[in-house]
Amino acid sequence: MPDRYAVIGNPVSHSKSPQIHAEFARQTGQDMVYVRLPAPIHGFRAELDRFIAHGGRGLNVTVPFKQEAAALCQTVSERGKFAQAVNTLTFSDGKISGENTDGAGLLRDLEKNLNVGLHGRRVLLLGAGGAARGVMMPLIAHGVRMIVVANRDVAKAQAFEERFGLFGNVRARAYDDLAGSAYDLVINATSASLQGSVPPVPTSAFAQDCVAYDMVYAADGQTAFLSMARECGAGITSDGLGMLVEQAAESFFLWRGVRPDTAPVLAMLRSAGA
Ligand code: ATR
Repeated sequence: MPDRYAVIGNPVSHSKSPQIHAEFARQTGQDMVYVRLPAPIHGFRAELDRFIAHGGRGLNVTVPFKQEAAALCQTVSERGKFAQAVNTLTFSDGKISGENTDGAGLLRDLEKNLNVGLHGRRVLLLGAGGAARGVMMPLIAHGVRMIVVANRDVAKAQAFEERFGLFGNVRARAYDDLAGSAYDLVINATSASLQGSVPPVPTSAFAQDCVAYDMVYAADGQTAFLSMARECGAGITSDGLGMLVEQAAESFFLWRGVRPDTAPVLAMLRSAGA
């Protein structure tokens, strides 16, 4: 019997993870199946237990269960602890261990796929929810010069400054206070693109030829945020499809001990109009 994996979430019908992992498995010759596992909003634990009881080996966890998943693990990695959320669960010896591969996925997409160096960069991170929290420590670890966190609810950004300021140069700002400073890398970690809107970031925040990254992915690779960034002079713009594929590769490596080649999978999704 092939080893069983799944992505659990609500909703999960749109998830590209089964397609990505099937391609990784084919490429590396791994005997495994990977399916979608929808869970009721209050039924995460029950679905998880059922999956384990049926011999499941690991799960990817998506919205809205990443925090709940972290809370029920017997062991959580450092990255998962800092993110207070996990997207990868591994089941072995009756134990559940959790990891967060989202931040590593973003960093690999930036460095490897987009050829963007992080060292010494001035970073503006838009949003202070779970998506933003997951990338803070990886950004700090890659030697960025500063991270300014902007959020509509400034108290949430301030909590980031307090928590992550112990490890790097982190500052909280209201959107209104961003005018006058320009950034080399502007990352949209808000859910604004999902609603077809754009965070209220001033045009002056985009340094000439800066990099603009939207963690959300879109069928044509374009979001309103990326269009705005280009109009403001951004030199490199990218949606989050590469991050999705790279975080999947990190999970795959964790489970199977083999690193898949992400480039053809990313190209395949792009040409299919992800
Ligand atoms: P996630 O886990 O995906 O980060 P979340 O925890 O619900 O989701 O956080 C959503 C983030 O997107 C928050 O930072 C939110 O800002 P507020 O905390 O001020 O609400 C941000 N957000 C959502 N819609 C937005 C919009 N239209 N403009 C700017 N920020 C937005």
